[in-house]
Amino acid sequence: MTDFLWGSATAAYQCEGAWHEEGKGLSIWDDYFHSDKCPAHVENGDTASDHYHKFEEDFKMMKEGGQNSYRFSFSWPRIMPDGTGKINPQGVAYYHKMIATMRQYGIEPNVTLYHWDLPLSLHKKGGWENIETAFAFAEYAKFCFHEFGDSVKLWATLNEPFYSLLCMYGSGNYPPNVKDAQRLLHAAYIQMYASALAANEFRKLENIGQLGIVADIHPCYGVDDSEACQFAVQMADHIMNNWVLDTAFKGYFPQQLLDELAKQYDLSFMKEEHRAIFDKGTLDFVGLNYYNRAYIRPYTTGESFVLVNNSGSKNSGIRETGKVKRMMVVKNMFEKIADPNGTFTEWDFEIYPKGIYDAVKMVQKKYGDLPIYITENGIGLHEKLINHTVDDTARISFMQRHIDELPKAKKEGVAVMGYYVWSTFDLYSWINGYDKRYGLVYVDFAHENKRYPKQSYVWYKNFINNWRELYETKYGH
Ligand code: BG6
Repeated sequence: MTDFLWGSATAAYQCEGAWHEEGKGLSIWDDYFHSDKCPAHVENGDTASDHYHKFEEDFKMMKEGGQNSYRFSFSWPRIMPDGTGKINPQGVAYYHKMIATMRQYGIEPNVTLYHWDLPLSLHKKGGWENIETAFAFAEYAKFCFHEFGDSVKLWATLNEPFYSLLCMYGSGNYPPNVKDAQRLLHAAYIQMYASALAANEFRKLENIGQLGIVADIHPCYGVDDSEACQFAVQMADHIMNNWVLDTAFKGYFPQQLLDELAKQYDLSFMKEEHRAIFDKGTLDFVGLNYYNRAYIRPYTTGESFVLVNNSGSKNSGIRETGKVKRMMVVKNMFEKIADPNGTFTEWDFEIYPKGIYDAVKMVQKKYGDLPIYITENGIGLHEKLINHTVDDTARISFMQRHIDELPKAKKEGVAVMGYYVWSTFDLYSWINGYDKRYGLVYVDFAHENKRYPKQSYVWYKNFINNWRELYETKYGH
């Protein structure tokens, strides 16, 4: 493997398309978008970026753009249509072909096993609220480790357990569209158990590479230093970060959080007999998806809630310029607010580059010298194709300012091993549809998904070619 991985990332549902081709089963998202549960104006990922048919063109562009690694996910229902049991040989053949092609272009695969496309059959039996889903995941993971273990050396179990389950069971904007903290906790426990079970399978194999998890990381900052605020920050950090990371790297959930949660919720789903699996299920590396920080103050009043801007317009109610607005409340614990002086994207994500430095330092402090990959970092923009390209200077500035935080951390001994831009090309942004573009490459969704490199693609290519000299001059390494 090359020494530092510079790449970009995607996820199966968001880019592959071919939602019903070559034996693929249905996922919870396919079902949602093809049912009356989904609002009529919401687009779907049926065709998405058509990566399923265009992957070679995409890898060629990655190679020409200087990238040496691709982070992507396997579609669980493409490999196991019902989530367990029967294998779809065409799906397996597809991923073999895709990985072989990637390697021909000198691109190192970094595979995430689950990026939110839960097989529908499992969802119908309770999904992440049913412990059987954890066993099914371990079965699927074991199959993939055996089948692809020769060609894939970097594996991750789950993508963003915190954020995805928050959307599924907290804000209710992702299927199954539930707003229930008790159910959210249960699902969040089962997902971490699924990851640990998969890790137990992985440890039975030799020479198979490394297994990690991809977490959305939210460095937490208090509005002041008061005791109440310190408690709020600690709780926010436990819920947003430590629930996943302590469990994945220390072998169990943070006790202080469990004590607090037990005052409000029924935790009887946590079984003593699972402890050994968690204990033996720790992982080798962490993937951090960094988009923004969490600005925290003590809890004031009202029930728990979370707001997400899926509208694409500024000040859509989630935030008001110059005013403090609560974006997330966890009753009796903390409130996440929008900094009235912060800078925000069109979708109300705060732009806070220093947070990526604080995040990797925090991970090193808590978990030691763990290899860290920045597995996603990027900005969603409204964009237009003009003269066969997109002038995305806002993205270039975003990337430059975030990447610039990393060499200092590396110099201070943090084991940052790679960086992946979200995303390789424009793709489907969940319920934001196609308007929120993240790609280094523009996809013309209306005209056969033709690809056009943006200015950021060119900038990234030049940066990758020169980064050693750049940082040697700046940081002396
Ligand atoms: C991450 C996910 O949360 O952020 C991606 O891993 C997602 O799947 C990305 O697309 C950006 O979020 P969004 O909602 O703007 O598409």
